[in-house]
Amino acid sequence: MNKNMVKINLRAHLSNHGVEEKLRRIIAHVADSAKYISLIMREANRKLAGTQNSFGEDQLELDVLADDILKQRLEYETSFGIGEFASEEQDTIKLLSTNGERYSVTVDPLDGSSLVDVNLAVGTFIGIHEGKILSGKPGRETLAAAMYVVYGPLTTLVYTARNGTHEFVLDPTGNFVLSQENLTLKDSGSIYSPGGLRSEWLPKHAAFIDYLEAEGYKLRYSGGLVPDANQIISKGGGIFTYPALTSARAGKLRLLFEEQPLALIVEGAGGLATNGVNDILDLVPEALEQRSPFYMGSRIEVQMARRYLTKD
Ligand code: F6P
Ligand code: MN
Repeated sequence: MNKNMVKINLRAHLSNHGVEEKLRRIIAHVADSAKYISLIMREANRKLAGTQNSFGEDQLELDVLADDILKQRLEYETSFGIGEFASEEQDTIKLLSTNGERYSVTVDPLDGSSLVDVNLAVGTFIGIHEGKILSGKPGRETLAAAMYVVYGPLTTLVYTARNGTHEFVLDPTGNFVLSQENLTLKDSGSIYSPGGLRSEWLPKHAAFIDYLEAEGYKLRYSGGLVPDANQIISKGGGIFTYPALTSARAGKLRLLFEEQPLALIVEGAGGLATNGVNDILDLVPEALEQRSPFYMGSRIEVQMARRYLTKD
């Protein structure tokens, strides 16, 4: 950043963009929680907690700590209310306030935590919904804002409050400072991130990946959704896929905690996200544990994926 340029922090950005006050406070509050998570990430704790989350996955102590930070800070906050809170690390929705609050929050506290022991980037996903979490409405109607945070060599935060998609970097003084306004995906890119075992792909998906490989797309896959999706978004294009598998027809990724927040962010940057047939944001979450095949990235690649997946 040019020395003479004025630094814009997250709070200023939210108010310059006219984001509604309660929503603004929630986003800034959750960003502070992410700052604390980024601090505990520096403590070299890679131990298992000895427990499992609601998906039967082993939890790290860091998974549990990140979840506690997000939940407890929202619970104890008194300047605004949150209705419901749901976390990928817990199996039920918690009611934080009964005052008919306007917003509810979903979190995936530490996405990609199997990468902690090898010191690769991991992240946090946040979704902020109007009303209840399982409202019977599609994400497109209920998601007011979404963000993810990448804990890598830098801690970066990408958010949308349906006002474009913007990136901030956590600076040494503890402020999230604007680094890229209006992130924009090109119509097509040059990288692909293919999740799931190749031996378990269904024929239509395999044909789509063959097409990408024949076209010379470069493989980029770390195994962490936040950093892998962030790579597509930051490089301005390409496609991330986690398909239906022979052993798991809905794939692996979670609709509420991961896919819909990411879909709002990628659409805010001019990209698309689909399950192969429908837009991810047009799906109605019916359960916390709901999963869906996932294709997200620039328009041309995602439309091409849809064409391959719906071919007879
Ligand atoms: O949260 C699930 C997750 O860890 C994602 O972050 C990531 O994209 C995916 O699983 C990786 O799955 P696999 O190990 O099958 O590639
Ligand atoms: Mn995750």
